[in-house]
Amino acid sequence: MINPGSGAYLKAQPGQPLKGRIRAPGDKSISHRSLILGAMATGVTLVEGLLEGDDVLRTAAAMRGFGAGVERLGDGRWRIEGRGGFVEPEDIIDCGNAGTGARLIMGAAAGFALNASFTGDASLRKRPMMRVLNPLGQMGARWICRQGGRLPLTLRGGGLNGLSYRLPEPSAQVKSAVLLAGLHARGATQVIEPEATRDHTERMLRAFGVRVEVRDEAGERIIRLEPGQSLTGCEVQVPGDPSSAAFPLVAALITPGSEVTVEGVLLNPLRTGLFETLIEMGADLSISNTRDSGGEQVGDITARHSALRGVVVPADRAPSMIDEYPILAVAAAFAEGPTRMLGLGELIVKESDRLTLTSVGLRACGVGVGVEREAAEMTIVGTARGNHPVKGGADVVTHGDHRIAMAHLVLGLASQAAVRVDEPGMIATSFPGFVDLMAGLGAQIGAA
Ligand code: S3P
Repeated sequence: MINPGSGAYLKAQPGQPLKGRIRAPGDKSISHRSLILGAMATGVTLVEGLLEGDDVLRTAAAMRGFGAGVERLGDGRWRIEGRGGFVEPEDIIDCGNAGTGARLIMGAAAGFALNASFTGDASLRKRPMMRVLNPLGQMGARWICRQGGRLPLTLRGGGLNGLSYRLPEPSAQVKSAVLLAGLHARGATQVIEPEATRDHTERMLRAFGVRVEVRDEAGERIIRLEPGQSLTGCEVQVPGDPSSAAFPLVAALITPGSEVTVEGVLLNPLRTGLFETLIEMGADLSISNTRDSGGEQVGDITARHSALRGVVVPADRAPSMIDEYPILAVAAAFAEGPTRMLGLGELIVKESDRLTLTSVGLRACGVGVGVEREAAEMTIVGTARGNHPVKGGADVVTHGDHRIAMAHLVLGLASQAAVRVDEPGMIATSFPGFVDLMAGLGAQIGAA
């Protein structure tokens, strides 16, 4: 999409091969949870490797608002002093761009007898909150919000009853909100997942001393907890974020002569759908030095430039790679033959409508894209056949979506002509230091 002459841009231009080793920034999902659970706990929680992106810093500020002591000790090192419960915040809780922050904090707050008002930036104020308000309401919380279940909203917590809730959409945020509310309800709470989603809340609750029962039954996953269990502060090691590691790794796969290693990447199988898909596409991805880090598997991932081929990405893989479709679409643009991605319904309600923005951005860069909105499918026609690299040469409108911006910048590193993205400041919500890190690998990304 061409958007001449507006605001500040970042430009990525094709150049030399990418080479080197880097560390991925801390995992965003685990970073939010470490602050929220630390604030709900009694005692001190020490966090190492916290992602210091805008989204997570909003959650840190929110936890102060709910009464916890939250202190930055050094690079990625934070100390949270929980009071064993939340107090009513004096001011509005502003979650910025963060859907995870907003939805998990609402769930946590709903368990306490308090009123709290929430807002966010223009993107978050458009995103659906009924998916969280519905189950919290069934548990007994009350709220008032804008039309369509949008922020700003005010939540009245306390006096909850336990709930058995089957997730209507595969959302780890909704699951987590219900479980966190259930900690302070009367009676057990269980969430039934027809499709398993990332399980960081369950794992971290256990690390804080909460008994959480997880079982698979008739193809569904059931997560159950009893209320009245207290959380005890602990130490949390935040692994590298696979959703962020995806950008330099795909950049290496599509840029001739490249070899890049990203160290310490979270390898939780509920997060690795992209890597599985890239390997099916013929990517030279190797994992080494796998180890346990704070109850999660991590490893170093090396990507070398590869001849990729198109594949069909099944719908049931979507929960394990939901944030990775924009960058997968970029990899697919450099593959031979079409890549068909199924089950993309949730892509529409992310930081932007990513189904639309991915297709618009790639088409502007000369890539053939088919979208079946009703069926929630997207097909990318790879340009590798006949050796016609992706054209690039476009200005891409990101609607302030960090992953749309980074995906198109990666495309620009391997296309024929430079690509510019607008609102580049939003990249810092999930990947502060992205430009410097990529520059360290040899990428030419700079202000334009
Ligand atoms: C997240 C869950 C996913 C994901 C988001 C982080 C989490 O959202 O897109 O970036 O930390 O629980 P949904 O729960 O809406 O799928």
